[in-house]
Amino acid sequence: MPGIVVRERLHSPGRERIPEPMVMDDAESVAYFHTGGGANPGMRAVYDLCARSIDALLPPGGRILDLGIGSGRALSAVLRRRPDVHAVGVDLAPNMLATAQELFTAEGLDGRAELVQADITALPESLAAGSWDAVSCMWTLHQLPDVEVLGAALRQIAAVQRDSGAGLWISDFARLKDPSACPAMLQCVDPDSPMGLRQDAIASEAAAFTREELSAELAAAGLGGLRCGHCTPLPYLQAYWMFGARGKHAPIGQQDSALNGQTRREAALLRWGFTAKPF
Ligand SMILES: C[S@@+](CC[C@H](N)C(=O)[O-])C[C@H]1O[C@@H](n2cnc3c(N)ncnc32)[C@H](O)[C@@H]1O
Repeated sequence: MPGIVVRERLHSPGRERIPEPMVMDDAESVAYFHTGGGANPGMRAVYDLCARSIDALLPPGGRILDLGIGSGRALSAVLRRRPDVHAVGVDLAPNMLATAQELFTAEGLDGRAELVQADITALPESLAAGSWDAVSCMWTLHQLPDVEVLGAALRQIAAVQRDSGAGLWISDFARLKDPSACPAMLQCVDPDSPMGLRQDAIASEAAAFTREELSAELAAAGLGGLRCGHCTPLPYLQAYWMFGARGKHAPIGQQDSALNGQTRREAALLRWGFTAKPF
């Protein structure tokens, strides 16, 4: 790892972004992503960080709007941590939504989560004008085709936040300067992960907005005051948040009892290495 980190620090900027298809719906990609999210220690560590963070944003009995819910793993971590919380999850991909529905049914969460097929850049009025305590967008922005669509998504998020007074949690990959850094890191820390899952992560990092790009677009959308953090020593994940109108909450969630062994260690390392976080 030290060599990968040093090469990244010394690498010149200017790496081109390689966009992915916006809607992630082909059966094989959905299955890889969903299976990986349930088993892969690195992915589960990220879900744990997101759930702990959102726990600090949500008042008791709160309502969360999750944008780009995918197969439901990230939101499931929030709902399992906080049995008092209700959610609406939005995605454009029918296969993702069907997989999320199966997950929530299997985990006994479906009474607390509603799924809606919609575009996060132009939400239906019923969601845009809803009463939310938190809005989350996790591992989704890198799928947007360009900065114009990114800007539309962030303006929509800013409008919902402004109207509802919700807390906000936005997290995603951050594109690194060195194109070989992410593949080398995954080979180093996760040599046994399935090739399809690893290729998906590598493509997502290449499609991600850099920290500078995302910060600039957040500011342009009226979200320049968000707090932010990133993982270290290799800054391939970035997060932005604000507390809602009801302020900061002492996290009340239960620790994920299924986090054990390598996953527990990776979650702790990610948490400790993150430069700032809301909890
Ligand atoms: C990589 S998945 C992440 C899912 C989930 N948040 C997680 O962390 O596991 C990103 C999801 O965003 C969805 N997505 C991308 N652009 C979207 C848009 N404009 N409107 C709604 N969903 C979108 C994709 O279909 C995909 O399911």
